[in-house]
Amino acid sequence: MSRLVVVSNRVPSTSPAKSEAGGLAVALQAALNETGGLWFGWSGKVVEPPAPAPTVTQCDRFTLATLDLARPDYEGYYNGFANRTLWPLLHSRLDLTSFDAAFFQSYQQVNALFAARLTPLLTPDDAVWVHDYHLIPLGEELRRAGLDNPLGFYLHIPFPSPEVMMALPWHRELAKALCAYDLIGFQTRRDLQNFRDFMQREMHGAIDGDGNLQVFGRTLVANAFPIGIDADKFAAMAGNAEPQEPRPSEHARRHRQIIGVDRLDYTKGLVERFRAFEALIETHPEYHGRVCLTQVAAPSREHVPEYLGIRAELEKIAGGINGRFAELDWTPIHYINRSFGQKQLTGLYRNSEIGLVTPLRDGMNLVAKEYVASQDPENPGVLVLSQFAGAAEQLLGALIVNPYDIQSVAKVLHSALAMPVAERRARWRPMMASLCREDIGHWRDSFLRALFAARQPRRIYHLVPERRAVGLSDIARPDMARPDIGQSDNRVGVISELRKAR
Ligand code: UDP
Ligand code: G6P
Repeated sequence: MSRLVVVSNRVPSTSPAKSEAGGLAVALQAALNETGGLWFGWSGKVVEPPAPAPTVTQCDRFTLATLDLARPDYEGYYNGFANRTLWPLLHSRLDLTSFDAAFFQSYQQVNALFAARLTPLLTPDDAVWVHDYHLIPLGEELRRAGLDNPLGFYLHIPFPSPEVMMALPWHRELAKALCAYDLIGFQTRRDLQNFRDFMQREMHGAIDGDGNLQVFGRTLVANAFPIGIDADKFAAMAGNAEPQEPRPSEHARRHRQIIGVDRLDYTKGLVERFRAFEALIETHPEYHGRVCLTQVAAPSREHVPEYLGIRAELEKIAGGINGRFAELDWTPIHYINRSFGQKQLTGLYRNSEIGLVTPLRDGMNLVAKEYVASQDPENPGVLVLSQFAGAAEQLLGALIVNPYDIQSVAKVLHSALAMPVAERRARWRPMMASLCREDIGHWRDSFLRALFAARQPRRIYHLVPERRAVGLSDIARPDMARPDIGQSDNRVGVISELRKAR
């Protein structure tokens, strides 16, 4: 039976006291809790000198193996190339992107180190699934070390337009490195299209009759697999009759709540969000003393200069707005610089009439989905969502806004506060249904099915009838050779056709 091996830079914290902030760790933990397997990544520690072998911990449902980083690797690979080059570049923030050859060298070295430490832990039956921009070259390194297993890559953040990608002096190296994978997954159709355009226009690739990319002498299968959440879990946590923690303060109980929850990141549009809230209370004095914005901004990447800058700016703006409008019994913006656990967040989502999710650019944005899943079905709140979040392709009942257009966001907030309960329910129900249908298990299973199909095109794979599957053999199982359809590209389509036929 195959084992699932997940590799990512960030892994979940093993300390129960520490809450996760970051969609990747939250989502992968939910995904691995059902299948079990091995999760390999960075311990989060900087150690001199790092231990020569990974530390292996048995978690409840999966095994965690982590390596430490040496100080220069942490600076060059993580703070440098991952967070000062690829993160801003892939979010189309060329103005914030550093181009430093030493960062790139460190990135390549650490990817080689990940491969060297991971290889001895792998067996020939493993399916290896690499996650996110930190580890693009890992597949190539693993292949170089002789790995012949199914090997997939998933990008959790956006893929930008080809023009932006071309600004990276090492775009060709990354494009070639991606060719080591059997399958590449993106969050949205827009990311997939940008990737195809880049490979075709700039890397001289071509789309073949099956819809695959022919590039650098290889056939590449790429598709969009929008990530989901464990919607049932959020609904159950939120519906729990137990008093929510944190209990709403007296202040929160007396005021209508708007909630924002983000890592403190310049991509999240927090400056524009505070300005939009300011415009709302400026143009609608009837909300004075009545409406509050609670913004959770979990500290993130605190050694990266751009993150220090945005933190200082937000403190100034929130202080300015509160200083201008606050009354003895009303503070318009509750700005909280710490992270919360998921149960606490669920309580905050449930107690808020509006979920305000306005990133300038975001791969998916799980907070938008968590807000919807935590609502009271009889009296749901309204999701106000940026058109630039991947979630906007799916959450069609949200009020979609352009986060740069501050006045119009203020107007939409006003409409959301005035929306009758019948409309709120009508918008919420189909969103909740799609979150339950396309949940985290659906995301994992559809990626893995496509990975096995991309790997062995002459075989047919099908799902077991129920998705409560444990083990990869249940997710994708080779049946028998059927060369007539086995050659087709639309392999996910083939699987569903087979399911229909049975
Ligand atoms: N999160 C959390 N505690 C916090 C803030 C955020 O657990 O204080 C979680 C949140 O519930 C969500 C994830 O971090 O699951 C953020 O994911 P999202 O996709 O919204 O953004 P990212 O941080 O990955 O850019
Ligand atoms: C985003 C990225 C993840 C990352 C997370 C938190 O979700 O896609 O790869 O883990 O942010 O960032 P951090 O740098 O703390 O891992």
